[in-house]
Amino acid sequence: MAYSDKVIDHYENPRNVGSFDKGDDSVGTGMVGAPACGDVMKLQIKVSDTGVIEDAKFKTYGCGSAIASSSLITEWVKGKTLDEALAIKNSEIAEELALPPVKIHCSILAEDAIKAAVSDYKTKHGDK
Ligand code: FES
Ligand code: FES
Repeated sequence: MAYSDKVIDHYENPRNVGSFDKGDDSVGTGMVGAPACGDVMKLQIKVSDTGVIEDAKFKTYGCGSAIASSSLITEWVKGKTLDEALAIKNSEIAEELALPPVKIHCSILAEDAIKAAVSDYKTKHGDK
């Protein structure tokens, strides 16, 4: 199966790899796994006092498409509000990266990871 140029670019030069301190109040952490293939994605957001995501980082143990999806979504969420981040659809990621049907679940992993990170942040701040 051939990867698209954009997948290869993100795979070879992943943006925002790393992690923040999980215990930091301004950080939300999302960790999700794909039952289909066993891949795991950790995605973290750093949120400003005004509720804007100012930074994001990820660590993904998985295929090229999963790494590219998480790399792309960390770029997309920067500068967004939590609600705007929640509105990102896996189909937008799949389209941007030209993922083939068998790799759609890799982009779903990224959508789920950002939702989990936002939800973790909200729980920390007493907001369900
Ligand atoms: Fe093996 Fe995703 S299926 S890395
Ligand atoms: Fe399972 Fe990509 S995350 S193949």
